[in-house]
Amino acid sequence: MRARIPMRIDSGMPRDQRSRTLSDLRISVIDRCNFRCPYCMPEDEYPRDHRFLSKAQRLRFEEIERLATIFAGLGVRKLRLTGGEPLLRRELPELVRRLASVDGVDDIAMTTNGSLLPGSAQALRDAGLHRITLSVDTLDADAYRKLSGGRGEVAEVHAAIDSAKAAGFPSLKLNSVVMRGINDGHVLDMIEHFRGSGHVLRFIEYMDVGTCNEWRRELVVPSAELRARIQTRWPLRALAANYGGEVAQRWEFADGAGEIGFISSVSEPFCGDCTRARLSADGRLYTCLFANSGHDLLGPMRAGASDAELAVLIAAVWSARDDRYSEIRGLANASARRHVEMYEIGG
Ligand code: GTP
Ligand code: 5AD
Ligand code: SF4
Ligand code: SF4
Repeated sequence: MRARIPMRIDSGMPRDQRSRTLSDLRISVIDRCNFRCPYCMPEDEYPRDHRFLSKAQRLRFEEIERLATIFAGLGVRKLRLTGGEPLLRRELPELVRRLASVDGVDDIAMTTNGSLLPGSAQALRDAGLHRITLSVDTLDADAYRKLSGGRGEVAEVHAAIDSAKAAGFPSLKLNSVVMRGINDGHVLDMIEHFRGSGHVLRFIEYMDVGTCNEWRRELVVPSAELRARIQTRWPLRALAANYGGEVAQRWEFADGAGEIGFISSVSEPFCGDCTRARLSADGRLYTCLFANSGHDLLGPMRAGASDAELAVLIAAVWSARDDRYSEIRGLANASARRHVEMYEIGG
């Protein structure tokens, strides 16, 4: 096993062209998924013989650990494991164990569709995972089947939540991508179910990520509209953000039944304080969810670059960053460009 890096590499704390620091790293550990959500990996575009990354093309755990350590030296404090579906990566708890010992990192979370969680929740907890976010777009059995591309059952969501709780993750974040005419009618039922459970349901505006989901603005339900619908049944009060640059706007039920959130990247972009970098499973660094290309880190690393050289490379990429896609989405050219697919960088 590679020796642990004894000290943090200090290339300073880079700031991008808009003075934003680098404090979150979202790590996609695999580009495969066992679901085929129509807004991310529609079945007809990704049939069973689609060529995903091979094992050799993917970062190994020791490479991810090494990069995470270098990113931590540049200011990263939060890590989030994503996919595709991260639990398809074998031995994921082993990666969590490695990341939990990276100096400077104080939060490790994972976003998953939950279908494989019962088999690994305890091992992930024991390895040092702090938080789990589950994607749950509806609790309607037929709609759930459709929205997972015929691969998931809503019963698996409940099993995932139970397994997480039993493993010591008492409160989860539950992400729901809301699409007009598809699942916006299920929002109140979901709230009814999860209110008072301690889990935080968050409604995400459908975004034009990737190239294959045929996004149309008419399908977006702006959070303000959704909130107005919810308020007719359950009055809500705004809450302050937990931390600067938080993606979700937090609200609480006036009757004390807990919290819900809204992620409004289309109607109220939050690029101004976006401190998130994304690492794809093949070791490319993306500076925006809507980037059209990433910066290769795996090549230089496998060619023998030192930690200090990699830190300089990453700092240079971050310093040159000027992304603010959600703020300029409406401009000609912005949305016409190719975007990286969601399953390549995990949202
Ligand atoms: P915590 O606040 O740490 O729990 O994490 P989070 O809310 O940032 O994490 P999560 O991965 O659950 O984010 C929720 C969703 O918001 C993602 O799946 C994306 O759909 C969206 N999102 C997250 N970060 C960004 C971003 O930088 N830009 C845009 N446009 N959307 C984002
Ligand atoms: N718009 C909004 N959210 C999306 N997600 C995937 N694709 C989209 C999209 N087009 C969400 C998933 C999951 C997270 C990784 O990103 O539902 O919660
Ligand atoms: Fe898989 Fe998540 Fe994409 Fe659905 S949104 S296909 S669960 S990676
Ligand atoms: Fe950050 Fe890009 Fe999302 Fe804006 S669109 S918040 S810059 S990832």
